[in-house]
Amino acid sequence: MQNKLNTTGVGNAIDRVEGHLKVRGMAKYASEFVVPNKVYAQGINSTIAKGEIVSIDTSEAEKLPGVLKVITFKNAEKLKAFDKKMSELSTTSIAPVLQSNKVHFYGEYIGLVVAETFEQAQYAARLVKFNYKEDKNPAINFDKSRGKAYKPNEQSDYSRGDIKAGLAEADEVVEVTYNTPIEHHHPMELHAVIASWDNGKVTAYASQQIVRDATICISDTFQIPKKNVRVIASFVGGGFGSKLNVERHVIMAIMAAKMVGKPVQVTVTRPQMFTNTGMRQSNEQKMRVGAKKDGILTALSHETLSHTSPTLEFQEPCGMVSQMLYKVPNNLVTHRLMPMNLQTPFAMRAPGEATGSFALECAMDEMAWKLKMDPIDFRVKNDTQMDLSTNRPFSSRLLVECLHIGAEKFGWKNRKMQPRTNKNGNWLIGYGVSAASRESPYLKTYAKVILALDGDTVNATLQMDATDIGTGSYTIVAQTTSEYLGIPVAQVTVQLGDSDFPPTPGSGGSWGAASFCNAAMAACEKAIKTLKANRNIKEEEEVAIVDLLKQNQLKAFEAEGSAEPSEAFKNHSVFSFGANFCEIWVDKDSLMYRIKRMVNVGSAGKILNPKTAYGQIIGGITMGVGMALTEQTKVEPNFGNFITRSFGDYHVPVNLDMSNIDVVFLPEEDKIANKMGVKGIGELGITSVAASIANAIFNATGKRMRDLPITPEKLIQAGMEVGVSA
Ligand code: MOS
Repeated sequence: MQNKLNTTGVGNAIDRVEGHLKVRGMAKYASEFVVPNKVYAQGINSTIAKGEIVSIDTSEAEKLPGVLKVITFKNAEKLKAFDKKMSELSTTSIAPVLQSNKVHFYGEYIGLVVAETFEQAQYAARLVKFNYKEDKNPAINFDKSRGKAYKPNEQSDYSRGDIKAGLAEADEVVEVTYNTPIEHHHPMELHAVIASWDNGKVTAYASQQIVRDATICISDTFQIPKKNVRVIASFVGGGFGSKLNVERHVIMAIMAAKMVGKPVQVTVTRPQMFTNTGMRQSNEQKMRVGAKKDGILTALSHETLSHTSPTLEFQEPCGMVSQMLYKVPNNLVTHRLMPMNLQTPFAMRAPGEATGSFALECAMDEMAWKLKMDPIDFRVKNDTQMDLSTNRPFSSRLLVECLHIGAEKFGWKNRKMQPRTNKNGNWLIGYGVSAASRESPYLKTYAKVILALDGDTVNATLQMDATDIGTGSYTIVAQTTSEYLGIPVAQVTVQLGDSDFPPTPGSGGSWGAASFCNAAMAACEKAIKTLKANRNIKEEEEVAIVDLLKQNQLKAFEAEGSAEPSEAFKNHSVFSFGANFCEIWVDKDSLMYRIKRMVNVGSAGKILNPKTAYGQIIGGITMGVGMALTEQTKVEPNFGNFITRSFGDYHVPVNLDMSNIDVVFLPEEDKIANKMGVKGIGELGITSVAASIANAIFNATGKRMRDLPITPEKLIQAGMEVGVSA
């Protein structure tokens, strides 16, 4: 049942329902909860990349007033250890910490100081002295680690057809390698936790994207029953993947709470956000593309080399995009990993697609140039409605429409194919395009709706353990509840981020919107269905929820619903698609550049709220600009520490770096994807942005920039002459 007059329901660009809480500082992040008697702790980081701790002097720290405990491997609680030498990092993995004297990377946690105040803990942490037996040959150099490269598992490789034959029959071959650096997520809200231990029961206010998975990690790590762990993340100030799993400050806080008998707060510092809360590893992606003169692809291979830590394995699936995006009969995708003495990388916004699409979409542009074909025509020619990697049709795929509508909006027809021919005074002007695709998963999700009748008004509360990581979950769930109960959003309260609420997959992998909203819809429908059945009202009869409650003589009623992928979903490949366009101006004297404008066209099913969806896309694009032009974490070549460890040297684009961004959503409902026809957009926005920029830089300068970030300095290295007229 839908209320046709409801202007706050699904599809409307309403303001965020939690907006007023945010601007008044009332939306509480993890470290802002008032927990009586809480004390503070500060993690201590190793200052070597590899070796062993041989002695520890805690005496000076322990003498300080306020210091309650110094915890190191010597006195730490015993935690569950990994069963295998190399375990896979996931959102539910255990997170043992302070269990041995071994150091695996620079910045690894080796201790924790607990004190009455934050300042005491910070100061005392600096006074704990560690003596090491240092291994002088840590694996901190990408090139020198090549010999250690290994194939993580059978799924790391994929092939169809015959890549050699495909390359042999090609008229043109592009064979190039792209490099992307280590990157860090850096959400504005620092990772934080306030943990209590009460007779074997844990309560943790923690900045986590998936509270249910956090309870699994915590209970497994401490070997306590899952029902004894409650994780609360009412509001999360950004995550981008860094808060998907439980990082070790959470475990240290719980351990400390148990040891000192008081709730313990740990707020990770910004420098620790480089060393202890995940990162995107650097990737070397070797591409081979073969095509006939007429632009038909004959071969595509995508081979990725990345690194992981010595103890935990994470593999970013960079090559996945090359398996499914184009109609190419001969395809090879491989992934290799090298263990290095750096922290374990993990998912960062669009893991796989963000980096993989940079390599693929630049290589496609290189091939189009070789063929003297328009890069849009080249892509359209190789479009496919079948996912050849799974032999399943796409549930919907409007990639060609995204490219064509984007071209129209952007004014692509004014592009000059020959580089360095579009000029304005001192500026070389380039246009670039790229295609984007991002898988749109959908996972089993539960929701509960609680109805309360107050006179002639029905108020509804919708509960689920979903999180809002700044994306707008509260708002779209409120809109869904409003829509399917037929009441205004003002009468809906949404409660999220508590593992005591019905379970959801949390926020990650662009599955949030579809999963949460379909479950919220199911709960509302269940309530209405039950209330009708109780009074023998036909299902198709439209009765307002207020009348249903009255006819049932109920003041209050609650119902649970759940949603999960259908058979149709499983028989299709479900992806969101998009196209990115970029105009860049490069100053030919300084080689400094400005992005002048960007156009993004997305097809992501039904758009629940154009305003929050727009926020997701421009946020993703901004991260894509950072990836293309500014963001890079540098490893010190001798000691393995990160040289970049603040926003002073890790450059995230700010408003002044950005330009006009036009975002267009194609009107669409993908009913195969799920009942509401919704697909993910959180990660689509970053995907292939870097390629559109690199391709625009080629169009402006004639230089192929294959190493990110593309800095003016690299343009000079590529042979651009400074101060010489083009
Ligand atoms: Mo995302 S990298 O699954 O938060």
